[in-house]
Amino acid sequence: MKYKKKKFFIENLSVNLLANKFKTPCYCYSYNKIKENIIDFNNNFKKIKPLICFSVKANPNKTILREICNLGLGADVVSIGELMVALKSGIKPSKIVFSGVGKTFKEIDYALKKRIFLINAESKSEVLAIEKIAKLQKKRVNIGIRLNPNTDAKTLRQISTGKKENKFGVSENIFLDLVKYIRNSNNLNLKCLSVHIGSQILEIKPYQKMLSVLEKAIKKSQFDFEFIDLGGGIGIDYQNTNKKLNLKKYASIIEKFLKGKKSKIIFEPGRSIIGNTGILISKIIYIKEGYKKDFIILDTAMNDLMRPALYNARHRIIPSIKNFSKSNKIYEFVGPICESTDKFSSIRNFQKLKEGDLIIICDVGAYGMSLSSNYNLRPKPCEILIKNKNSQIISKRQSLKDLI
Ligand code: LLP
Repeated sequence: MKYKKKKFFIENLSVNLLANKFKTPCYCYSYNKIKENIIDFNNNFKKIKPLICFSVKANPNKTILREICNLGLGADVVSIGELMVALKSGIKPSKIVFSGVGKTFKEIDYALKKRIFLINAESKSEVLAIEKIAKLQKKRVNIGIRLNPNTDAKTLRQISTGKKENKFGVSENIFLDLVKYIRNSNNLNLKCLSVHIGSQILEIKPYQKMLSVLEKAIKKSQFDFEFIDLGGGIGIDYQNTNKKLNLKKYASIIEKFLKGKKSKIIFEPGRSIIGNTGILISKIIYIKEGYKKDFIILDTAMNDLMRPALYNARHRIIPSIKNFSKSNKIYEFVGPICESTDKFSSIRNFQKLKEGDLIIICDVGAYGMSLSSNYNLRPKPCEILIKNKNSQIISKRQSLKDLI
């Protein structure tokens, strides 16, 4: 994805051409970028040989999942819907892990019937529910326990999951009780210790702390876990400032952690696989002069891309065609929704814009479309996958008829 001469291209197709063909707002993903991210991920962790389960919540599009499956990944799911779409896109049950604090009877029953690889339980009650359903199905099933390591991921508060005030996982004491309980169960096979401390992590220290907490808990449990599921969380460089998690270092501390153990590693990456593979193409409807800034009113809103409104997240905004002029105003890029949080960014010194121009919101492949809604009764955008010169609609734009 880059400018060729002055025009922005995704693989061999210009954004302007795509917008003409598919209209706006429109999510576009690059197949080659997805492939590159998966190859990089594999290379970084090649000594560990992990089972990599793509976190479906980041992007549950069936075609994308099919491509990810063909590139060798499994899936991490958190609902029956995600489990169904993962299976439908060809991901083998033997590569699927199921996480989440509130799995219902129906969800567990379905997952066990499909014989998925692993359910990571997050409470005593859930362990008992899984055992009961396994007994009803006359099976012995693989189970993991998610530990809450009380570790600060040093990321946004809203996407931290590993501190003791968070609802995720169990305390060390409960973990140790559950290990004993599961060891004596006829229907449960204790396979895994799992953990996930948060998302968009850019520093190594939280992972270091997490591994040392795991080390202690494993020693106390006196149990050899066949799998250690380290969850996801690897952050991406939203601001293009080269601030990245040091993956070599992450790999090396995991290798150290694994010394003397027979455990295999599971990862559940979402954002690091799909985040930077997607853009959102938007058109400027109006430009309105405000008291102190110009409002660039887009046809794209917080219902299409929720992250800025929800987490104050910042996504880079760039023009579809560069014109090398500079505006001396502050541009505030906003959507048409009746909420003041419906804004994407305020930018000084942007190139001069006019109504009808196209702009691109970057790095929206993860938690973009998957967090979208129909707020203000706005139909959801279409999604397009680009593979070299080919563009394919992978989910149709919703029509008003779908909604009304
Ligand atoms: N595993 C578990 C158990 C998770 O809860 C998550 C994300 C992942 C894996 C994948 O994490 P990733 O590699 O993508 O960081 N909506 C927020 C992110 C919420 C993440 C929730 N859990 C956002 O837009 O930033």
